[in-house]
Amino acid sequence: MKSFKIGNIKLKNPLLLAPMVDVTDLPYRLICRKAGAALAYTEMLNVGAILHENEKTRRLMKTCADDRPIGIQITGPKVSEFRTVIPILKTGNYDLIDINCGCPSIRTLDNESGSFLLKKPEKIASYIKILKDNGFITTAKIRLGFRNNNIVKIAKLIEKSGADALTIHARLAHDSYKIPADWKFISDVKKQIGIPVIGNGDITDGKQTTEMLKIADGAMIARAAIGDPLIFKRILNYLKTGKEEGFDFSSNIKMFDEYLRLAKKYEVCDLPRIKFIGANFLRNVKGAAKMRADLMQKKSLEEIEEFVGSMIFDI
Ligand SMILES: Cc1cc2nc3c(=O)[nH]c(=O)nc-3n(C[C@H](O)[C@H](O)[C@H](O)COP(=O)(O)O)c2cc1C
Repeated sequence: MKSFKIGNIKLKNPLLLAPMVDVTDLPYRLICRKAGAALAYTEMLNVGAILHENEKTRRLMKTCADDRPIGIQITGPKVSEFRTVIPILKTGNYDLIDINCGCPSIRTLDNESGSFLLKKPEKIASYIKILKDNGFITTAKIRLGFRNNNIVKIAKLIEKSGADALTIHARLAHDSYKIPADWKFISDVKKQIGIPVIGNGDITDGKQTTEMLKIADGAMIARAAIGDPLIFKRILNYLKTGKEEGFDFSSNIKMFDEYLRLAKKYEVCDLPRIKFIGANFLRNVKGAAKMRADLMQKKSLEEIEEFVGSMIFDI
């Protein structure tokens, strides 16, 4: 199977789990890896929050020996903070640092971070140089532009600054998910830069992954992996056999059971997060709405474990 390297990290296959706020915590990454994801990232973390040693941020930064290779995704408004945060990043056992230049949330834009950086390409370049000078394998995740498409210019600058790979979510910062990701620009960039390009946007099955891998080195999956970690297994099977397997509720709910076990072990998830993630598993099956409503009533991790356990017993 075609795969690629980021710096000296050799990926076992070309499928990546996208960074996702409220989703890609340590237990979630571990179940997606078990299903086949070759690389996973923390959710986006603001450098300011890391520097202030915010308790929630610290939990989200947690990783473990099985959680490899791992990228920590960071963003922030200040070059000085990128310098100050280096010692903390060095203690973290991360394989690579990814710079988020794509988040369009109002809070992030107010903080002059995320996709705001697409308006300040020279800042992205400075961040990359600081991380590279400190020995980190460094990548960036960008969109096609802020309001105007400047993807080729930014991609070339990112390469010139020393980045080891580039991920492109093929939409402008303010495009909603209703606007299809435009993969043509991923293809354009791939032809014009030499570092690996990871394509992202609207991948939901094996056939689309195959199309993405014709134009990019890697395929990154976000929404389709929420509540369905086994998408990685199905896609890998498609890449080997050309056969698309269907979603299987009972196998997937066992993955949520595993998530709960890991959440208990690593103590990184609060109850609202576990319920949000769990609700995404309860779909594509008869009675899903009632199951989700029942889940929301649960008052502890133990109650959720019991609820999910009975579901496994029932199927
Ligand atoms: C719930 C959620 C949280 C997200 N959080 C992040 C994040 O922390 N960092 C990031 O770079 N992108 C984030 N994204 C964007 C995704 O990584 C991805 O670029 C986008 O959803 C397109 O991929 P998809 O079509 O496979 O969903 C998030 C998306 C979703 C749905």
